[in-house]
Amino acid sequence: STERTFVMIKPDGVRRGLIGEIINRFERRGLKIVALKMVKMDRKTAELLYEEHKGKSFFEDLINYVTSGPVVCMVIEGEDAVQVVRRMIGNTDPKEAPPGTIRGDFALSKSENVIHASDSLEKAKREMSIFFDTSNF
Ligand code: CMP
Repeated sequence: STERTFVMIKPDGVRRGLIGEIINRFERRGLKIVALKMVKMDRKTAELLYEEHKGKSFFEDLINYVTSGPVVCMVIEGEDAVQVVRRMIGNTDPKEAPPGTIRGDFALSKSENVIHASDSLEKAKREMSIFFDTSNF
């Protein structure tokens, strides 16, 4: 069925000039961008987004990284969008992400991995509501 998922191009993706390349991949796949914005996250917003990782060894580094520069947030719509987008992005660890996936083609490490996408419909709703007024769409 038609779903909406949340995607965020992380600061390394923005710094490396990959915004166009990444959006192009989603559009070519027939997915629709229904909301889009560039923001510089404060720590409070980053900690809310990554709440589930609080207490993990990499949490502090993760917050520092995602607040190190602007990110591009978007809501993407399409048939089975949550799963389709996750597959297009590839594994968290770029050495396990196949060529042809965004991380497989561009990511440099497990922590600086270019992009984030929601892993479930519930998370998608939660994450998009952090950045967008979802009553608008
Ligand atoms: P993301 O898909 O946005 O979800 C959580 C993020 O935490 C992940 O991408 C990575 O950027 C980061 N992350 C996950 N696991 C590790 C790890 N073992 N070491 C460092 N960063 C990690």
